[in-house]
Amino acid sequence: MTKLTGKADRLEMPANFPKSVILETQELTRRFDKFTAVDALNISVTSGEVFGLLGPNGAGKSTVIKMLTTLLPASAGRAAIAGYDVTHQQDAVRKVIGYVPQALSADGSLTGYENLLIFAKLYDIPSKQRRERIRDVLAFMGLEEASDRLVRNYSGGMIRKLEIAQSILHRPQIMFLDEPFGFATSFKSGNPPNGVAHQQSDSIRLLVAKYGILWRNFVQITAQPYF
Ligand SMILES: Nc1ncnc2c1ncn2[C@@H]1O[C@H](COP(=O)(O)OP(=O)(O)OP(=O)(O)O)[C@@H](O)[C@H]1O
Ligand SMILES: [Mg+2]
Repeated sequence: MTKLTGKADRLEMPANFPKSVILETQELTRRFDKFTAVDALNISVTSGEVFGLLGPNGAGKSTVIKMLTTLLPASAGRAAIAGYDVTHQQDAVRKVIGYVPQALSADGSLTGYENLLIFAKLYDIPSKQRRERIRDVLAFMGLEEASDRLVRNYSGGMIRKLEIAQSILHRPQIMFLDEPFGFATSFKSGNPPNGVAHQQSDSIRLLVAKYGILWRNFVQITAQPYF
């Protein structure tokens, strides 16, 4: 059984920063027919915490994210985002999350600005605020210069940045980034999970405060606070 647990109480955050559980799963499970892709996963993530989920290809990382973002129903167990149940309060969950899928998804036939405008409308950002919000996220991601260029002429990294910009337009409380930096998961299925950590931990640790290793049906791993 795969289990991920962890607490962020060793993270250094401002004393007045409100600490609350922003994401919690309890025995979250997803089966595809008889195949169990995610097996009774338990994660607890606190506001302000950056949590990284590592694992080999096929370990179930994207499946976990899809369940947490309401794109895929769970087979068993439960999950809550900002206190909202991902099964029973999907609309509320969608309002408080940002999501960057694993596959590049921006529309290449539109400019960066036009892609962002679609998301601004999807998120019901009032029309008077759209231009400023879009300008802000473009600046935040360093894409101002590319704003009016067709996305098909962007580099892969620029598309990723644009997608992150899309996902923060509505100022979500929590972000889900599925392999946002294109890390290759090169280890083979026979390797012990520790190998996963060793191969990726140096770069991952620079980016995340805590990470868990997902190793399907194999071993229980506890997420390691880094700080
Ligand atoms: N819709 C589906 N139908 C059947 N099996 C699926 C489906 N989606 C995922 N799976 C299976 O579930 C397992 C987990 O897939 P998932 O995409 O979550 O892995 P991952 O950890 O994100 O891998 P990667 O590092 O390659 O992105 C895989 O064995 C995959 O084949
Ligand atoms: Mg994946």
